[in-house]
Amino acid sequence: MSAPQWLEAWSAPDGAARARALFVERFGEEPDGTWSAPGRVNLIGEHTDYNGGLCLPVALPHRTYVALRRREDGSVRLTSAQDAGRLRQVALADVAPGTVEGWPSYVAGVAWALREDGHAVGGFDVAVDSCVPFGAGLSSSAALESAVAVALDATSGLGLAGPGGDPDDAGRARLAAACVRAENEIAGAPTGGMDQSASLRAREGHALLLDCRDGSVRQVPFDLSADGLALLVVDTRAEHALVDGQYAARRAACEAAAARLGVPTLREIAPSGLEAALATLDDGSDEGAVQVRRVRHVVGEIARVEEFVALLDAGRLREVGPLMDASHTSLRDDYEVSCRELDVAVEAARAAGALGARMTGGGFGGSAIALVEHDRVDDVAAAVAGAFAAQDLRAPAFAVVLPGAAAR
Ligand code: GLA
Repeated sequence: MSAPQWLEAWSAPDGAARARALFVERFGEEPDGTWSAPGRVNLIGEHTDYNGGLCLPVALPHRTYVALRRREDGSVRLTSAQDAGRLRQVALADVAPGTVEGWPSYVAGVAWALREDGHAVGGFDVAVDSCVPFGAGLSSSAALESAVAVALDATSGLGLAGPGGDPDDAGRARLAAACVRAENEIAGAPTGGMDQSASLRAREGHALLLDCRDGSVRQVPFDLSADGLALLVVDTRAEHALVDGQYAARRAACEAAAARLGVPTLREIAPSGLEAALATLDDGSDEGAVQVRRVRHVVGEIARVEEFVALLDAGRLREVGPLMDASHTSLRDDYEVSCRELDVAVEAARAAGALGARMTGGGFGGSAIALVEHDRVDDVAAAVAGAFAAQDLRAPAFAVVLPGAAAR
């Protein structure tokens, strides 16, 4: 059996040098600067963000790097090492919903959203390189948006970025909102906003408790090493795509359920009111039965975030495993967003001694996380890789993650 593959994170100087070198090679001059932003994993609180709920992401050490230079005309020229260095071009004045395809839509979309917000953002050249795995449910798109957002903030003098991880981060919250608009309206993915907040608002060594009802955040210390633990990420290599209909269908079912219950979002359903809400939704129709399962997940998951954070606040990190396990079960059975690869990863990690394991992100493929004893990381990774091989699944890839810093 072959050894587990590890997804290495680049050092910041290395990542910046790669983006700058690509910029110079493709555009023939120096950029104004280099910026970067992280991908994320969510510890718990899945499919809660668009329900006004709570989630708890951490920023990855894996980041997307951009080198950017302002242009005085209104055009955007883009190149990416992940796109074989091809040169693409978009006229900023033409950017509107449905006009830009593929990865340039995330970049042009951020400029468009900032302009829609009244900011004087003009054209630019940008070169991108990234060690955030693509299509792995680790928010490579939010990392790209966020890196471009802080680059445009600096080169256009918007003054919104401030220091990353600041609890008083109103400017960064506005940048995150622009990135969400770029993703929803220009890239066409109806995502909820957790990923962009994680990338722009997280703090090193902390998990970000994000309250999606009002956009407020709290930095929760997340010190794995103090407890001798590690967070193992398993990229199942089962590709997920949020632009397909499944994510939108989950979101629509939640919105329909909230409307039937007469609440603005499912956040308004307290655990004590859950049974009554489910009884209202359960009208004998198939649609009603689906809504029962979706709502049970969302309300339970928001409560699990609160319990998870209470344990962290009490210094009881070792006790969060059962909450992670329950989150996975709920996502698999009630929300129906897991898949075989994610279930195999989670079960194999637990069988090899993980304290808890769950899928992370939108699901339908992508990544799982496992909380493991630090000195058991290699054994758990080998066990998961072995389980994939035994089931003839594509070999997964692994990363050990310490909470990284926000976009800068
Ligand atoms: C994706 C979306 C997020 C969030 C998660 C599920 O990552 O981009 O907004 O909805 O799925 O928690």
